[in-house]
Amino acid sequence: MLSLLTRLEKTRLVPVVSLPSVEAALSLAEILLQCNLPVVEVTFRTPHAAAGIAAIKNNFPQIELLAGTILTPKQADSALEAGATAIVSPGFSPQLAAHCTSQNVPFFPGVCTPSEVQTALESGCDRLKFFPAEKMGGTGMLSLFRSLYKEVSFMPTGGISLNNIKDYLQLDNVLCCGGSWLCPEQLMAENKWEEIKSRVRKAVQVVNT
Ligand code: 3PG
Repeated sequence: MLSLLTRLEKTRLVPVVSLPSVEAALSLAEILLQCNLPVVEVTFRTPHAAAGIAAIKNNFPQIELLAGTILTPKQADSALEAGATAIVSPGFSPQLAAHCTSQNVPFFPGVCTPSEVQTALESGCDRLKFFPAEKMGGTGMLSLFRSLYKEVSFMPTGGISLNNIKDYLQLDNVLCCGGSWLCPEQLMAENKWEEIKSRVRKAVQVVNT
C-alpha cells in the first residue's frame, strides 16, 4: 500500500465533498475508482460524514480517505474510528495538532499567513492546507511561502477550478490541490452522477496533461 503522501503526489487532486447521504458516498466512490482518482476528502459539514467514510472504507478499501472540516479532537476521533487515514482542518488548532500527532495521524491544518505557517511548524506540521487559497493570495502567496519555508508542502483549496489548477500544480511546494467543484453536494443530492463523472474525468485529464 502506497503511503498517503505518495498517493497524493500521484493523484495531485483531492475531491472535497459534503455528503448528502451515505448512499451518495458509495455512488461517488464508484465513480472515483472508475476515473482513476482513488482519494476523497469527506467534510464534517453534513451529518453523514462519519457513516459515509465507514461505508467507503468497507466497500472500497482502495480509496484514500481524508476527513475534512475537522474542528475538534472529538470529531477527529469519530473520523478515525470510521476509517479516515488523515485529518484536514480549515484552520490551525494546537489542540487538534497535538491530538493527531500523538496518535501519529497525518494532519493538514489550514493556514493562510506566515504566522500561521510558523505556528504549524512549531507544532510539528509541515504539510499544510493553504485555505482559502484564491482569496488569500493564490499562487503568488504560495511562491512567497516557497522562499520562506523551503521544507513545507501545501494542499491549496478554496477557489481552485479547472481554470487555475495547473498554475498551482506547477509550484514545487504544492503537494496536491483540493476542490469541491468535482462533486458538489447539490449535484449528489439530485443524483446527477453522469455530470459528476464527467467533471471527475475531465479534472483527472487536465491534471495529467
Ligand atoms: C475546502 O474545505 O477545502 C473548501 O471548501 C474547498 O473549497 P472550494 O469549495 O472553493 O473548492
